[in-house]
Amino acid sequence: MDHFLYRDGALFAEDVPISEIAAAVGTPFYVYSTATLQRHFKLFDDALEGTDHLVCYAMKAASNQAILKTLAQVGAGMDVVSGGEYMRAKAAGVPGDKIVFSGVGKTADEIRTALTGGIRQFNVESEPEMEVINAVAQELGVIAPITVRVNPDVDAKTHAKIATGKSENKFGIPISRASEVYARAASLPGLEVIGIDVHIGSQLTDLAPFELAYNKVADLTAQLRAEGHNIRRLDLGGGLGIPYTRSNEAPPLPVEYGAMVKKTLGHLGCEIEIEPGRLIAGNAGLMVSKVIYVKSGEGRDFLIIDGAMNDLIRPAMYEAHHDIIAVQEPEAGVEPQPYDIVGPVCESGDTFAKQRNMPPLQSGDLIAFRSAGAYGAVMSSEYNTRPLIPEVLVNGDQFAVIRERPSFDEIINRDTIPTWL
Ligand code: LLP
Repeated sequence: MDHFLYRDGALFAEDVPISEIAAAVGTPFYVYSTATLQRHFKLFDDALEGTDHLVCYAMKAASNQAILKTLAQVGAGMDVVSGGEYMRAKAAGVPGDKIVFSGVGKTADEIRTALTGGIRQFNVESEPEMEVINAVAQELGVIAPITVRVNPDVDAKTHAKIATGKSENKFGIPISRASEVYARAASLPGLEVIGIDVHIGSQLTDLAPFELAYNKVADLTAQLRAEGHNIRRLDLGGGLGIPYTRSNEAPPLPVEYGAMVKKTLGHLGCEIEIEPGRLIAGNAGLMVSKVIYVKSGEGRDFLIIDGAMNDLIRPAMYEAHHDIIAVQEPEAGVEPQPYDIVGPVCESGDTFAKQRNMPPLQSGDLIAFRSAGAYGAVMSSEYNTRPLIPEVLVNGDQFAVIRERPSFDEIINRDTIPTWL
């Protein structure tokens, strides 16, 4: 459930008409709903009720500070994957002891930043990285809390570009080598081993792969404890999928995911951490765009819109489906017609949908891409010197621009010309 609904034929974000935002900020833009963000966080928080836990929002999904603050206010921690994300979380007021640091290539500088500013734990992804964290911690005279991310060799059954839990993927250390790696970690004076981390992929629409992986983590917990390690925290990653096609998808709910977590790991008495990104932000955001031209092609009509692949890259990059709706609800009985919905960027990959049924549309009409809150704005670029589009946050009947559209001058003046030119 989200808070983007039609009222009297007009699409609203909570209590604000989308057309009003479009008139104020111009198109295209992203708009997020506070109530939806907080509701999705709470679904996870409630699903783990009764176990010691922390929901660390994977801020790579949507990292505007206003979104981070909105979630932090209701108790979220953050999962970060770069020094930049760490700084952003801190800037949004998230305390270091609620920030976990994931990612395969943390540099010594990033590790130093986090150890200086405070960190809940590093999720270590390789032995060389473990050595560097140890060295930096010793140099700073602190002890770094760590988990080791294990790769359970489980098929997440999702798009190949976002599956991370098979042995051929670059993530984590093979679970078969855990014993050795934990022994090494325990011998390093700058580290304190506190738990195990696992994340097998994103947009999982079945609980079975999670369950397989978590059972392996349960066995590993027992084994590592027997080997003398004080395993007390399990970070289970993110990955629970969302319905991108409303009409026919029903992925498992957070409450079902939580029940499975309790069933597979509850008996271990560990603190549970999860890192959901997409499920919190995905259906809490829309990308709103305007039709520039309706062009009749050979046997098909194109809707040429002002949003493009640089603004929302998921269809071009993962063949992702986003439901697209008209901001003005079609009247009952209006015959839909098929359109190819495309942006103005100069490549055929700049196609959002082919032969998608829409109500008849004309130049100037607004359309909205659903499920665009996660991996939308954060993956955008200025390809074709198209400015990053604004982000807007709605809260009840209020809205605020939370990232301005940059001017062309700002973009162009970022270049510097060498003296020889
Ligand atoms: N934790 C770790 C270590 C991750 O790598 C990820 C996502 C998450 C948590 C959050 O996963 P989520 O709950 O959002 O599924 N750009 C792609 C998705 C990339 C996901 C990368 N890692 C897309 O647009 O589909």
